[in-house]
Amino acid sequence: MQKINILSLTFLSLLITTGSYAAERYDTKAFRTITKLCASCHGTPFYQAKQNDDDDWEYYFDTQGKLEKIHKGNTKGMGAVSSPLFKKNKKRILKLLIENSKYSGAVNGCDANFCGTNH
Ligand code: HEC
Repeated sequence: MQKINILSLTFLSLLITTGSYAAERYDTKAFRTITKLCASCHGTPFYQAKQNDDDDWEYYFDTQGKLEKIHKGNTKGMGAVSSPLFKKNKKRILKLLIENSKYSGAVNGCDANFCGTNH
């Protein structure tokens, strides 16, 4: 009886630690894509994300032709927002930006992809 209790306790604590670990992670594919395409002008993804609130991000991403219009006349910016790489990952990039947006309260620690802001 005692053995079973210890086993289920161990299992339970494993579940809890794994769960909280997962909650801290973010979409590294989306992160790397915006680092590559946008960071040279907008700063690191988390810095860029904080410049707008969730509604604004939705507006910029979901209004047809909006991002292209904003970057019109900016060859490099235009290239980034109209690239197949951006278009392919647009949905998950929007999700990452919203999750880390102005009033999200998200604070990201130092890890292999990101350690502070450089812009
Ligand atoms: C070559 C530089 C450059 C690149 C690369 C670039 N942008 Fe921009 N972006 C700009 C400039 C300049 C503005 C206009 C800022 C303003 O008017 O205040 C802008 C404005 C924006 C805005 C409007 C409001 C804001 O948040 O500043 C959004 C949204 C945006 N860019 C998203 C992106 C995304 C997403 C990417 C990558 C896929 C990207 N940009 C890549 C230069 C760039």
